Amino acid sequence: MASFSSQNRVPKVSVFLFFSLICFLLFSSSHVVLAQSSAVFACDVVSNPSLASFGFCNTSLGVSDRVVDLVERLTLQEKILFLVNSAGSVSRLGIPKYEWWSEALHGVSYVGPGTHFSSVVPGATSFPQVILTAASFNTSLFVAIGKVVSTEARAMYNVGLAGLTFWSPNINIFRDPRWGRGQETPGEDPLLSSKYGSGYVKGLQQRDDGNTDGLKVAACCKHYTAYDLDNWKGVDRYHFNAVVTKQDLDDTFQPPFKSCVVDGNVASVMCSYNKVNGIPTCADPDLLSGVIRGQWKLNGYIVTDCDSIDVFYNSQHYTKTPEEAAAKAILAGLDLNCGSFLGQHTEAAVKAGLVNESAIDRAVSNNFATLMRLGFFDGDPSKQLYGKLGPKDVCTAENQELAREAARQGIVLLKNTAGSLPLSPTAIKNLAVIGPNANVTKTMIGNYEGTPCKYTTPLQGLAASVATTYLPGCSNVACSTAQVDDAKKIAAAADATVLVMGADQSIEAESRDRVDILLPGQQQLLITAVANASTGPVILVIMSGGGMDVSFAKTNDKITSILWVGYPGEAGGAAIADIIFGSYNPSTHQPSQNYVLLVFQIFAFDSKSVHIIVEYEFEFNQESLSRTYRFYTGETVYSFGDGLSYSKFSHELTQAPGLVSVPLEENHVCYSSECKSVATAEQTCQNLTFDVHLRIKNTGTMSGSHTIFFFSTPPSVHNSPQKHLVGFEKVFLHAQTDSHVGFKVDVCKDLSVVDELGSKKVALGEHVLHIGSLKHSLTVRI
Ligand SMILES: *[C@@H]1O[C@H](CO)[C@@H](O)[C@H](O)[C@H]1NC(C)=O
Ligand SMILES: *[C@@H]1O[C@H](CO)[C@@H](O)[C@H](O)[C@H]1NC(C)=O
Ligand SMILES: *[C@@H]1O[C@H](CO)[C@@H](O)[C@H](O)[C@H]1NC(C)=O
Ligand SMILES: *[C@@H]1O[C@H](CO)[C@@H](O)[C@H](O)[C@H]1NC(C)=O
Ligand SMILES: *[C@@H]1O[C@H](CO)[C@@H](O)[C@H](O)[C@H]1NC(C)=O
Ligand SMILES: *[C@@H]1O[C@H](CO)[C@@H](O)[C@H](O)[C@H]1NC(C)=O
Repeated sequence: MASFSSQNRVPKVSVFLFFSLICFLLFSSSHVVLAQSSAVFACDVVSNPSLASFGFCNTSLGVSDRVVDLVERLTLQEKILFLVNSAGSVSRLGIPKYEWWSEALHGVSYVGPGTHFSSVVPGATSFPQVILTAASFNTSLFVAIGKVVSTEARAMYNVGLAGLTFWSPNINIFRDPRWGRGQETPGEDPLLSSKYGSGYVKGLQQRDDGNTDGLKVAACCKHYTAYDLDNWKGVDRYHFNAVVTKQDLDDTFQPPFKSCVVDGNVASVMCSYNKVNGIPTCADPDLLSGVIRGQWKLNGYIVTDCDSIDVFYNSQHYTKTPEEAAAKAILAGLDLNCGSFLGQHTEAAVKAGLVNESAIDRAVSNNFATLMRLGFFDGDPSKQLYGKLGPKDVCTAENQELAREAARQGIVLLKNTAGSLPLSPTAIKNLAVIGPNANVTKTMIGNYEGTPCKYTTPLQGLAASVATTYLPGCSNVACSTAQVDDAKKIAAAADATVLVMGADQSIEAESRDRVDILLPGQQQLLITAVANASTGPVILVIMSGGGMDVSFAKTNDKITSILWVGYPGEAGGAAIADIIFGSYNPSTHQPSQNYVLLVFQIFAFDSKSVHIIVEYEFEFNQESLSRTYRFYTGETVYSFGDGLSYSKFSHELTQAPGLVSVPLEENHVCYSSECKSVATAEQTCQNLTFDVHLRIKNTGTMSGSHTIFFFSTPPSVHNSPQKHLVGFEKVFLHAQTDSHVGFKVDVCKDLSVVDELGSKKVALGEHVLHIGSLKHSLTVRI
């Protein structure tokens, strides 16, 4: 689906920019830049002129010729050095050691041995955790963040502090709200995850010189596939077998990966630990060679999670010997092993005839080709496109402002009783700020974090505008006991109260799933008591990655506003204050629909609707399938796409067809027998498009951005979703101005569903299109 929009734009003026700049200057001047180490690279023809005669060092040749030249020069033992993340060196060829494992989920991270912070670069810009950024529904923001991260990564590479290969983003579908790693993902919807993944990858990888085969840095989409469980009541990711139908795989789990490879042109895909239908993903030739390389045509390398091969040999007992495990992985299409397994067992596997050297050549060729596209074999990087980047380009005022902007764009206003938000900074003489997350730093950056440039905590953000009285209320988020009386006292004496509650990595994390979606410990008790004691507005701020059941707060009249702020990154506190005091208008998602939701899965479900475990097999059965707004029919607290603004927006449909006809070949089976759907593979189904036009007006008094969602409810065939997202578009509108938004709909691409066999079909009959707040009926016939 393509969408287009026209509106008046104004440059974004921030009164805080100057403030951030000052803080940045103070911060950076306190670090004396010490002697810099330098980038790791091959083909250093300046120090070693003899290297110039090697074809693989010759930049006039194409990547594939250079790779062939290099591989021909290596012995089997040398090739095996390049199958693992801590790759070895070959000094006779001028190839130094290279560490493949770096991470950059939402900023350059210190997770992974390839990247370090030091006095030279003490920190990098730490953007909000991905679940919050995704909630902005702003595809240009996804790209913009990726660009900043890759610039800071290159700058760190140039001073020897980072690699060039980053194993981010995580685009697994956040199907279960209790998954500890859901915070890392763009949420539950396949389309939003696809747009996020391909956008962030483009931001990381695309060079500014139009060299489309070259890479700024290499991204990696992970973890392929059907992974959304870490450690749930004794079932862990190392042992679980995802039982997935062809339909569910192609409808839910694969689309983000496909988009990442096909639209984002990502340089790498990582296979996961779990099995899918009995086969470890890293040993599955259909999933790796067949789909990623064969169908999607990956231009890059396939890497294991760390260390999936060891896991499927030692924990899953998938093969009898380690040599068989090594051979199976390589034969399935794997190129690189995060870990040491292939380094230890590949030579014996080749000697035993389990895998041919030609398969090793294929694997290392994919790895070398990626490094060539990054310029690693082009000699001194300081002479290359990004060679001038350095510490001065990390944590710039603009980069840090984008971190704050991203948090503002993602934060969702869920409830706002008239007269509550925004608070007037001049009217509030005393603001009570309560809660275990009210003055946190590291909690705001979630996991797969780096050292941030600096932090602004919620308390610091709020205290920059008004006088505050602060009380944590509980000693940590687990909140086993709450200081209820003291909290009530300060709330009763204040003009307004902000409660900053929620979770942190002790509640939801890698290797830590939740068993319920309630606020931890005595948090609810504390919130309710404080609300009851307050005289002014009570603003509940939930800082969490996964959804929390806040139904008690939704129905409590004393709690006048609810904000969900994800893990909002280094500038989270400033962004929260921007929204609470109204210097930024939270962007609306469309109101008044009852989707269950989940970028935001705050919803109530009964205890049966949980993982079903059959002898340590995890099944995505009908019940778990019912989760996410696309399938769930139970009650919800807030739904996918919910969110309020300080403005109101009206929608008017100006163009939309009522009928489309799919032409068929004369002898088509649907002429002689009744058909419920038509395969999108049909020739005549190609290029069947129509336009939908919409007029959006900001009828409020504040400027703001508004997301227009386009959902479709297909006729009910093939157990298809009750509703699915086919497009979204975000527009900025000044108060009392309007704008047009158009969606170009490709009938067979956008309105199709996946059938039981994994084929795409367009259902015949009435499709209900939900466009913004409007519903439109469209009949598809043959
Ligand atoms: C590099 O390759 C080009 C194109 O084949 C060739 O003309 C040139 O001589 C090569 N350079 C060296 C140093 O071998
Ligand atoms: C290795 O190569 C030979 C000759 O091409 C082929 O017959 C054999 O099947 C290959 N073995 C494996 C394990 O791929
Ligand atoms: C809030 O957190 C900051 C940063 O950790 C700390 O410097 C400050 O003392 C804290 N403020 C209060 C009132 O505890
Ligand atoms: C709310 O406060 C009133 C008195 O101010 C008290 O009677 C009542 O029990 C409180 N309710 C709760 C739920 O704490
Ligand atoms: C569909 O449109 C594309 C681009 O306009 C074109 O390349 C392609 O040939 C068309 N396909 C058919 C079946 O008409
Ligand atoms: C999307 O994000 C970009 C980058 O921050 C920003 O310039 C743009 O205004 C945002 N779009 C809308 C409609 O808010």
